[in-house]
Amino acid sequence: MTLEKKQIARQFSRAATTYDDVASVQALMATRLIEKIPIDARGTLIDLGCGTGAALKSLASQTRLELIGIDVAAGMLAQTRLRLERVSKKVVLLERDLENTGLENECADIVFSNAAIQWCQSRLAFAEMNRILRPGGQLFVSTFGPQTLCEWRQAWQAAPWMGAKSPWGVCSAHRGSDEQSSASTRDWVSSRRSWSVCPRWTSPPRVPSLSEAVV
Ligand SMILES: C[S@@+](CC[C@H](N)C(=O)[O-])C[C@H]1O[C@@H](n2cnc3c(N)ncnc32)[C@H](O)[C@@H]1O
Repeated sequence: MTLEKKQIARQFSRAATTYDDVASVQALMATRLIEKIPIDARGTLIDLGCGTGAALKSLASQTRLELIGIDVAAGMLAQTRLRLERVSKKVVLLERDLENTGLENECADIVFSNAAIQWCQSRLAFAEMNRILRPGGQLFVSTFGPQTLCEWRQAWQAAPWMGAKSPWGVCSAHRGSDEQSSASTRDWVSSRRSWSVCPRWTSPPRVPSLSEAVV
């Protein structure tokens, strides 16, 4: 695993116990993406970058799919384990890089990934999804686009007196190119502290132009 990926894994692991408190946008994206999965879907679903397992828990209760969660961060997987403790369905969790899962070719009926591939080289991530998805399988992916949370960015720009460093640097770097992905990782690592001083909102901001593809 590259140094950069180890750094991403370490940072997410460190933030794992508080991730759900600040991830309301990701939760909203996940809910919308899950709604697109046919309720009567059968077979194996693989959640790439499963994080703390919120989507896996919903899918376990709403569908009859066999579930596999993959994440690079051991700490996030530990939270998933806790979350799934009372879920009767067995969910397989693997600490792996989603660009190179080590899974067999064409083993998935559904590949699902919410708010994770912006941390990866998109070319490698999609190549891996293509490899593990069986012919005729379905891909459900959501990620951040250039306009995602633009109202939030505008709000920060309009309120410089708030003093805290804008967290927008993190998201604005996620423009989809691999070079920018690396830049965004560095931004996030270096601006990690500013997340903790972000004001909490009582209801999540509306997500504009969510870049959500169902292929
Ligand atoms: C923003 S969180 C999203 C988590 C979850 N999907 C959700 O909707 O809340 C991104 C997740 O992707 C994981 N991740 C980042 N790069 C990864 C990689 N190369 N392989 C696997 N997981 C990765 C992180 O550890 C983190 O758990």
